[in-house]
Amino acid sequence: MAIKYYEDEKVFKLDTKNSSYVIALVDVENFICHAYYGKKLPDYHVRHLLRIDENPFVPSKNNRDRGSFNDSAFFEYPTAGIGDYRTPAFEVKAENGTKTAALTYKSHEIYKGKKKLEGLPATFVNEGDDCDTLELTAEDKCLGIEVTLVYSTFVDSDCITRSVRVKNVSGKAAYLERTLSASVDFEGNAFDFITLHGSWARERHINRRPVTVGTQMIRSFRGESGHQQNSSAALVSKGCTYTSGEAYGFNFVYSGNFEIVCEVNQFGNTRVEVGINHDTFEWKLEEGAEFVAPEVIMTYSAEGLNKMAQNFHDIIRNNLIRSSYKNKPRPVLINNWEATYFDFDEKKLYSIAEEAKKLGIEMLVMDDGWFGNRSSDNMSLGDWQVNEEKLRGGLKALVDKVNALGLKFGIWFEPEMISPDSDLYRAHPEWAVKIDGREPVLMRNQLVLDITRKEVRDYIYGEMKKVLSSANIEYVKWDMNRQLCDLYSAELSADRQGEFSHRYVLALYEMQEKLITDFPELLLENCSGGGARFDAGMLYFSPQIWCSDDTDAIERCYIQEGTELMYPLSSMGAHVSDCPNHATGRNTPFETRGNVALSGTFGYELDVTKISENDRNQIPGQIDTYHKYNELIRTGDYYRIASLSENGVYDCWAIVAKDKSEALVTYVEGMRRPNVHSQIVKLVGLDENAFYALEGTEDEYNGAVLMYGGFSAGGTWGDYSSKLFHFIKKQ
Ligand code: GLA
Repeated sequence: MAIKYYEDEKVFKLDTKNSSYVIALVDVENFICHAYYGKKLPDYHVRHLLRIDENPFVPSKNNRDRGSFNDSAFFEYPTAGIGDYRTPAFEVKAENGTKTAALTYKSHEIYKGKKKLEGLPATFVNEGDDCDTLELTAEDKCLGIEVTLVYSTFVDSDCITRSVRVKNVSGKAAYLERTLSASVDFEGNAFDFITLHGSWARERHINRRPVTVGTQMIRSFRGESGHQQNSSAALVSKGCTYTSGEAYGFNFVYSGNFEIVCEVNQFGNTRVEVGINHDTFEWKLEEGAEFVAPEVIMTYSAEGLNKMAQNFHDIIRNNLIRSSYKNKPRPVLINNWEATYFDFDEKKLYSIAEEAKKLGIEMLVMDDGWFGNRSSDNMSLGDWQVNEEKLRGGLKALVDKVNALGLKFGIWFEPEMISPDSDLYRAHPEWAVKIDGREPVLMRNQLVLDITRKEVRDYIYGEMKKVLSSANIEYVKWDMNRQLCDLYSAELSADRQGEFSHRYVLALYEMQEKLITDFPELLLENCSGGGARFDAGMLYFSPQIWCSDDTDAIERCYIQEGTELMYPLSSMGAHVSDCPNHATGRNTPFETRGNVALSGTFGYELDVTKISENDRNQIPGQIDTYHKYNELIRTGDYYRIASLSENGVYDCWAIVAKDKSEALVTYVEGMRRPNVHSQIVKLVGLDENAFYALEGTEDEYNGAVLMYGGFSAGGTWGDYSSKLFHFIKKQ
């Protein structure tokens, strides 16, 4: 078993291939404390890692200063009100209004495999996977609350998942005010904290800052994970690089308001916490009821950030994504958004499809504007009936014609939204999220539907299902183009309004689960004004997520670098678009746009009937390249080699096959600098003793030479040029 309990030492040891996580029970009360997380340890004498024999000692030796113990112990699940003045993970308001809780060990269970988290996305175990689970139940007898900490070890990907179950056995109602999913205390503070931040059109740029005294925090209040801060983070040793140093990664499997806290206390130790944002959360727990906090995936790498990223890629690809496209190349699509915006009809779409087919494109996606009276983004969200003035002859006729060309057909929806100017709003104004007597805040001229109400989500899903059943639609882009505010649901009592934000996310999950159950072969791509819902929660439902509305190849280098740190390349929705780019006005070579999009799902977002002959002629070659390398890109190990955002000169990454038999290197330059030597690129992850041929040349290199000496990227010309290098291992 990868999880062991040593009764004599009262120690739980959780092992993965290269890491260990140690929990120990402390003192006569059996406090559940954290002893170690890091490089794999042998199986003996780990209890001393607790360092509890130092001043101020445990309460049985020094109850006079119990508070000192509480304020310095490494609790596995810290609580409020007991004199631990760091940020708690758990806060519950009892019926008498108090918020103090103290958790001590009650029981535990260790078993093979892993249970589902009801209603929530979570990692799962495939046949043959090495995974054990520890359920550690703690109690506060005074409150009548039981808390079960759930840990699963994904041995091969070096990941440990955590979630929390809270049960009320008090005989009265209790109110959860903070129920985070994980807390880990680290010795010392010689760390940097890495998070992904941004805004619309520049999502998930990497931010790295030293950990320092006090609290640093990222979070979302927006009802979604958001453009601004991503729901993942890393704590890394000082000087940690892509290839060396220690990195602890945290990836929250949740798509709503989250918080990730990094706090250094008075003794210079660091606490990292991940969970639902407690500021927008309160949950009434009736007697006997349970609450489940979403899952966090944690990973440890002793080999820098590349290994951390690879661990996340492996677990997400193998144990979180469920789509029928999980292990398949995605069809090369063309999306009409940047090609036409709202200005299209069936003839225009068909002409794009016809041209696309000639070039080797495999699917046409009809974006926003096909329903109701939707001629701009001011109206009709909620009216999911085909606009037959635009699509003359109806949707099925168009889909059939596109299918007859040999192309698949996909469609855009924004199911959670309602326009004030819509038939749906006129019929059901009360279905929009708003507070009686208060003018609701509009964003993009739209409101959010209260999908926490069953009748609302059933109606909307029913309308979607009708459309999807009416023709051969093989792809859906599920969008969400505003954030939540004016939070209120008419169906919740006053003492349950604090549940709204989490209930919203649960409702979204329920709708998407229905969709993929009813249409198991559907390719679902999530999206939110670009990449505002790029999180591990959504990847349970869709194998890919639209990265950003910014398709500029250079901006995409920044966005993709950040995204790749936490999420697999196969999940990054990436398209080649026209220039000047619609988000930046920048001109980049068509070739570079193709090379950058190649690392994602790959597709086009332009009017193929209008682009230059020169660009159009490159498309068939780009599609061949996609088919040639997609298997490698989808399944290989990702290595970041250089970062344009850091060095200002060039970006470079490689995908190396798991068996090291081939490597694809993508090299992208920023602005061309005159009179400089060509760049030396040092590879990573190759077989040191093997020889590799560089495709398209007579050149042959030894693996060690390529890694430690490097090879020359050669000359380039013009701004934003790029190259692909494919190395194949010689037999
Ligand atoms: C969002 C998406 C875009 C496009 C538009 C349509 O912004 O990110 O790709 O679908 O909505 O309104």
